[in-house]
Amino acid sequence: MQNILILGSGGREHALAWKIKESHNCGKLFIAPGNAGTKQCGKNLNIAVLDFDGIEKAIEKHKIDLIIVGPEAPLVEGIYDHFKNHPVDVLGPSRASSQLEGSKAFANEFMKEFNVPTAGYLTIGPNNIQEGLDFIDKQPSKIVLKADGLAAGKGVLILDSKEEAKEELKLMLSGKFGEASARVVIEEFLDGLEFSVFVLTNGDQYQILPIAKDYKRIGEGDTGLNTGGMGAISPVPFVDDVMKKKVISRIVEPTIEGLKTRDYDYHGFIFIGLIKVNNEPYVIEYNCRLGDPETEVILPRLKTDLLSLINGVFDKKLSDIEIEIDDRSAATVMLVSGGYPEAYEKGKAITIERNNNNSIVFHAGTKIENNQLITNGGRVIAVTSFGDNHKESVNASIETIQNISFEKMNYRKDIGFDL
Ligand code: AMP
Ligand code: GLY
Repeated sequence: MQNILILGSGGREHALAWKIKESHNCGKLFIAPGNAGTKQCGKNLNIAVLDFDGIEKAIEKHKIDLIIVGPEAPLVEGIYDHFKNHPVDVLGPSRASSQLEGSKAFANEFMKEFNVPTAGYLTIGPNNIQEGLDFIDKQPSKIVLKADGLAAGKGVLILDSKEEAKEELKLMLSGKFGEASARVVIEEFLDGLEFSVFVLTNGDQYQILPIAKDYKRIGEGDTGLNTGGMGAISPVPFVDDVMKKKVISRIVEPTIEGLKTRDYDYHGFIFIGLIKVNNEPYVIEYNCRLGDPETEVILPRLKTDLLSLINGVFDKKLSDIEIEIDDRSAATVMLVSGGYPEAYEKGKAITIERNNNNSIVFHAGTKIENNQLITNGGRVIAVTSFGDNHKESVNASIETIQNISFEKMNYRKDIGFDL
C-alpha cells in the first residue's frame, strides 16, 4: 500500500483524488490544500503548494510514498529537484524540464531543435525590438504575442492589426505582465481547430491518455474573456485515428526523443496543446501537468488503474501496461461565480439536491464553513457526465446542474457547440 499526497485545490485535483482512491494500492490519501470535494476522498492538509518545507514535514509525518503534483507553479519552482535525494517519488518533471511550460521561448527552441511542427516565431527582448517590429510587418494576418514566462494564463494576445501588435509588444516588454514579459515570443497565427493530447512519461516510455478539447472563453459561442476553462469534452470527434497517428509520430515521439537527448529528468504528464491546420497537427504549447477541466473528462474515461500507470513511470514498466479507455463520450461543464474571470465574490452557499444522471460532481473552488458548503473561487464545480456522443453527455451534465445552485452561478450550455 502506498500513502499518497496530491498537491493542488481545483477540479483537476478532485478528479485525481477520486481516481487514485479507487486503486487497490492506495493507502492513506492526502490532498494539500484540497477543497470540499477532495475531503470526500482523503484528508486535506492545510499546506500551500509552494511551501516545500511544509510539504516535507507532512511527508515525514504521514509516511508519504508518492507526491502527485497538480498545478505547474511547484514544478517550475523545482519541487521535483527539492525531493530528489529523498525516498519519496514526485510525479512531475524537474525544474529544468518544466521550462517547456515555464518559458515559451524555451519551448519553441526545443521544438525547433527536435523538428516538432509549430508556428514560425521570433523571441524578442529589450535589445532586438526592431527585429520584432519588422517580423510583425511580415505577418499576413493576425499576430500572436506571448509573454515568455508564466502569466496565469493571461500572457497570450492575438491581435488583428499590426499597429496594435507593435504597441502591445512595447507594452509587454516594458512590464505589462511583469517579469513574465521581459521577453516576448511573436508567433505566426495558426488558424484551425484546437485539441489537447495528454502523455504520461518517464522520459523514455510513454502512454497516451484520452484526447480532449476545452472551452476557454467565458461566453457561449466562444466569446468574451479567456478563463481557466469552462468545460471540456473527450474524445474529440475531429481527431480520428489518422490524426492521432500523426500526433504520435510527428509530435509525441520527437518530444520524448528530445527529453532523452537533453537528458531531462521527466517523470510526469505532458499536456500538448495542438491545432489542426489543413489536416496537419501543430503544437501551440506544452504544459508539464494535466489540464483543468480536461482532467475531469480524461480520468473518468480511463479504465486502467492510474496508480499502476504512475508506478510504471517509476519502475520503467510503463510500456508493458495495456491502457484501456471507455468508448463513451465524457463532457464536463464548469459552474463559475458571477463576474468570473474578472472580480467575483466568494462565500456563497451552495446547494446540491439530487444527482440522478450518474454525473460526477467534481469540486473546484469550494470549502466547508460552519457545516455549510460555500464557494471559494471563480471556478466552483465541474459536472462530468457520460453519453454516446458529446451532445448527450453535455445535456446530461446540464440536467444535473438544475439541481445545483448558488447565488450568481454561471455556466456555458454550449460546450462542444462547434463540433
Ligand atoms: P497558449 O497559452 O500558448 O496556449 O495560448 C493561449 C491560446 O492562444 C491558445 O489556446 C490558442 O487559442 C491561442 N494561440 C496560441 N498560439 C497561437 C498561434 N500561434 N496561432 C493561433 N492561436 C494561438
Ligand atoms: N484548461 C487549460 C489548462 O489547464 O491549461
